Amino acid sequence: MKIENRIELTRTDITKLEVDAIVNAANTSLLGGGGVDGAIHRVAGPELLAECQTLGGCPTGDAKITKGHRLPARFVIHTVGPVWHGGKTGEPELLASCYRACFELARANRLQTIAFPAISCGVYGYPIPDAARIAVRETRAALKGIEELERVVFACFTDEVFAAYQTAVREETK
Ligand code: APR
Repeated sequence: MKIENRIELTRTDITKLEVDAIVNAANTSLLGGGGVDGAIHRVAGPELLAECQTLGGCPTGDAKITKGHRLPARFVIHTVGPVWHGGKTGEPELLASCYRACFELARANRLQTIAFPAISCGVYGYPIPDAARIAVRETRAALKGIEELERVVFACFTDEVFAAYQTAVREETK
């Protein structure tokens, strides 16, 4: 199937998606927080935190997988995006690395569907259009390389994020 048909944009709360894995924009402690991290832990229930406590944290740019617990998604892939400091301290490479680490876990666990929030685009202050371009670029590369990955959903929580992803997808498919 063409790559364009395997990327989906949706205006939604990621905790509602019934996919193999939803990605959490976490922090290095993996012990919860606000934003999408808070929403995922609220819906998943205390067992998610208990499982996270066994993981020993996660470095920025990397990702770790847990069960989805009370979420409709089977798994949660926790990744830690970079905090935006102006773009001169490796933020683009670290954000790209988040997506690659998530796709590596998807491949290793033979996942067919995965949903991402806009990693680093909230509390971490990453400029949304730049982050969306990185997300789409890394996703297109992953879809080329992972036969089993049928669908990648970008779960956009705000109109601003949704518009940025629409532009990024349009630009990438030129
Ligand atoms: N579903 C989908 N997206 C959501 C949801 C949700 N329920 N809630 C928030 N978002 C969006 C935000 O609107 C933003 O576009 O997720 C994107 C990422 O924002 P944050 O959750 O603030 O994550 P990030 O910028 O990566 O900062 C991570 O915030 O919550 C803490 O523990 C987390 O310290 C970490 C930091």
